Amino acid sequence: MTIYRATVLDITDDSPFPAAALRADEDAGVRVVDGVVTERGAYTTVRTAHPGDAVVDLRPGLLLPGLVDTHVHFPQVRIIGGLGMPLLQWLDECALPEEARLASVDYARDVAADFVRGLAAAGTTTALVFGSHFAPAVDVLFEEVTRVGLRVTAGLVVSDRSLPEALLTTPERSYAEASLLAERWHRPDARTRYAVTPRFSYSAGDDLLDACHRVLKDVPGSWFTSHLNENPAEIAAVGSRFPTAHHYLDTYDRHGLVGATSVFAHNVHPTDDELELLGRSGAAVSHCPSSNSALGSGLFPLRRHLDHGVRVALGSDVGAGTGFSLLKEGLQAYFVQQLLDEDGTSLTAADLLHLATCSGAAALGLGEVVGNLSVGKAFDAVWLRPRAGEPFDVGLRHATSPEQALAKAFALATPADIGGVWVAGDRIRADRVKADPVAG
Ligand code: GUN
Ligand code: ZN
Repeated sequence: MTIYRATVLDITDDSPFPAAALRADEDAGVRVVDGVVTERGAYTTVRTAHPGDAVVDLRPGLLLPGLVDTHVHFPQVRIIGGLGMPLLQWLDECALPEEARLASVDYARDVAADFVRGLAAAGTTTALVFGSHFAPAVDVLFEEVTRVGLRVTAGLVVSDRSLPEALLTTPERSYAEASLLAERWHRPDARTRYAVTPRFSYSAGDDLLDACHRVLKDVPGSWFTSHLNENPAEIAAVGSRFPTAHHYLDTYDRHGLVGATSVFAHNVHPTDDELELLGRSGAAVSHCPSSNSALGSGLFPLRRHLDHGVRVALGSDVGAGTGFSLLKEGLQAYFVQQLLDEDGTSLTAADLLHLATCSGAAALGLGEVVGNLSVGKAFDAVWLRPRAGEPFDVGLRHATSPEQALAKAFALATPADIGGVWVAGDRIRADRVKADPVAG
């Protein structure tokens, strides 16, 4: 039994988005038993009721729910920062050559250590991860997230056309490999789950998408993720590869892949028909703002998504995205909506926290378990501890409201300001996250 003493900021599950209401408890006590929050209130009240409990003092700073990344690529941690190219050129020159290197399981193991450390160091406790085209590399990813203790939904990435030969599979092989991976790692009541993951319909034919549907059906509780409407050249190419499809989303929908357990990354250039279908089916969209800016993909039309009732969460999209920090992604989401002044939605700091926590939990079907620090939820948390004298520290000390303090966290906090990360009450220790081997 542990009581965490902190300033706790989070968003309750019934809070609207946008115009989210920030729940701010200064000098709160959060009591955790067996990894679950059992009480939350004024510190003195909780402490008086449980004088024998251990106390973890997390003042000064802010305690937030663990961050939820709904779109991030495991094999791309080493290629972050490949600037100056649009999507298809970036894939050819930057991403795919690196992804081919994960054919070596030893290489994949090192990348998995880098990747999982990147997530944890950024305060991401739950993620929907694009795995690798190679099944053994997906195994080492799951081994590493299990060793460190993060909540990860991930799977084998599959393609059967339009990519380098080494990355291609067949419908039969993809089904067999996915089934074996799901058997080993799909544990809906634990921290790892399986995600059916065709790369995008640009690189997947109808038979492969059909095989994806079979895996989704045969693995109860599995999730589905892919890319959608990211870039005009990509969208045009999908149109010519699927001449009878009504639109890009239809290439997935006609194989039964659009539903409440689906998360589509990007959707920067949707048609109204696609938004209507996303809203009606309950599918979620992962908005990846730093990636959209880095690749020049476009400005995410959030207002149109909301008008159609489409659920939206946040993704880092490492490595087109420029880092693991969902605080940075939140700030970038804010910037984009500020720039879309015609039909844009101005976001508050509470909205950014909504996107980075409970929106993500809901998109992944984990809203009962994580997303905020309410009684009954797992104690998945990130402690922002400003370094003395740094602008974030100065900002927090001069904030006149919790909303201002949170806005300063989004504007100024970096992974260097993270003092602790917990999943289900387990502290994710830096010394359990493998260090980078020293070059040479
Ligand atoms: N579409 C297909 N593959 C990718 C990828 O790796 N990154 C991004 N941003 N878009 C993609
Ligand atoms: Zn992506």
